[in-house]
Amino acid sequence: MHAMAKRYVLGLDIGTSGAKAVLIEEGGALAGKASAEYPLLTPQPLWAEQNPSDWWQGAKTTIQQLLSQTGVAPSEIVGIGLSGQMHGSVFLDEQHQPIRPALLWCDQRTAEECAWITEKVGEQNVLNWTLNPVLTGFQAGKIIWLRNHEPANYARLNQVLLPKDYIRFLLTGVFATEVSDASGTALFDVRQRDWAYEMLDILELPREWFPKAYESPEISGRLSAWAAQETGLAEGTPVVGGGGDQAAGAVGNGIVEEGLVSASLGTSGVVFAPLKTPAVDPQYRTHTFCHAVPGMWHVMGVMLMAGGALRWFRDTLCAAEIETARAMGKDPYDLILAEASAVPPGSEGLTFLPYLSGERTPYPDPYARGVFFGLTLSHTKAHMARAVLEGVSFGMRDSLEILQAMGAQPREIRATGGGAKSPFWRQMMANITGIDHVTINVDEGPALGAALLAGVGAGIWQSVPEACQAVIQITTLSSPNPAHREAYERAHHTYRALYPAVQSLFPRPL
Ligand code: XUL
Repeated sequence: MHAMAKRYVLGLDIGTSGAKAVLIEEGGALAGKASAEYPLLTPQPLWAEQNPSDWWQGAKTTIQQLLSQTGVAPSEIVGIGLSGQMHGSVFLDEQHQPIRPALLWCDQRTAEECAWITEKVGEQNVLNWTLNPVLTGFQAGKIIWLRNHEPANYARLNQVLLPKDYIRFLLTGVFATEVSDASGTALFDVRQRDWAYEMLDILELPREWFPKAYESPEISGRLSAWAAQETGLAEGTPVVGGGGDQAAGAVGNGIVEEGLVSASLGTSGVVFAPLKTPAVDPQYRTHTFCHAVPGMWHVMGVMLMAGGALRWFRDTLCAAEIETARAMGKDPYDLILAEASAVPPGSEGLTFLPYLSGERTPYPDPYARGVFFGLTLSHTKAHMARAVLEGVSFGMRDSLEILQAMGAQPREIRATGGGAKSPFWRQMMANITGIDHVTINVDEGPALGAALLAGVGAGIWQSVPEACQAVIQITTLSSPNPAHREAYERAHHTYRALYPAVQSLFPRPL
């Protein structure tokens, strides 16, 4: 008799800054991870694009690295799950080649197209079908933009895919998507978990351009012989639906039942709550999408710049910290956060609005801008750093309060993403929201969630919550400090009053 081979599942995340792959052993242990960066193209202000071929290179590199690092045999990998940046548009021609670079989730060029879609379909229909307004980041406006601005390209269009679903196509030869990512197209019937066919018809978008939508743990296809050659994986390996980065990330954080909420401080800032029935914010400030857990939905507030605002602050104003950190062999963020922590809560009256790239929640306004308000001679760069952290945290609180009004009742909040690695920022989030913030033993985000979904599809775990239980434990706790409450309440009051006061001054196209 020989020992039974171990089974592994692979999760692949096609992010905005790069691709990431993780390999999880069936007992739940992380066997390995790899990542590869690719460029973000910004050919014009408000535009954001990427080459789908760069995603494929990133996917191949990370998979090959993972296989060679871990020595795991391709035949031991029993399932692959895909995740990725949501909302983007991959336009394929009849030969299934990308027609042009993909327009991304953070691209803001489609305001006119979104208004046109809403008008054409009727606002009430849009809301009834998609449960969300047509936002500039979402896929629908990008397709109409192609029709309006690049008619020659539009004439060649044969298939429209979301970013990770293009990688699925290259892996399996199958056109498919899944319900969580499809929810962010503004063309999907989120309640029925299928395309909003009537809406496609009204917009004269051929139904066959949009691939079949699976549930996230369902098998959508199997690795082709060509993809096996290209990646080193085994032909025939099942590829499950997977999830958009937010839903898959929530699975990777165990946010798979009501009562659990996550706060993710990545480039964007997302507060996420699962629901058993779809609920909608009457003012449509949050997104209501299908969850990667079959039969569940989720609501989320999305700030476009959270960690991204701190990165902007670092890159624009912290050359000295970057230099010192390099000499000390440290991360510049550690120095910036240490300086910020010496300033009292409320930043002595300095307020920062983090809308550096427009905003979604709580203000769906592509033209919103960042603001420092209340500067005096006594304020230093450290105050500004703290104001940035507080501004982002207040924005997260705004999202949380909207979700609470929709029925989400968090016992605690799971903090995740790069920003949550800082105990100081986690404590600030706890103080500003008044709710315990915890972290967990694994922080591999969407790639881990995708791997867990693959494990469910492959039969290692019976359900998504069971997969989460096998892998996830809580490791740290930050509880609100009542001593800081009053200062934050006052600062939050100013923060909330600021956007309405300056909104009309933000430049808008005529
Ligand atoms: C979610 C969203 C982002 C992108 C990029 O609505 O826009 O999370 O998916 O990460």
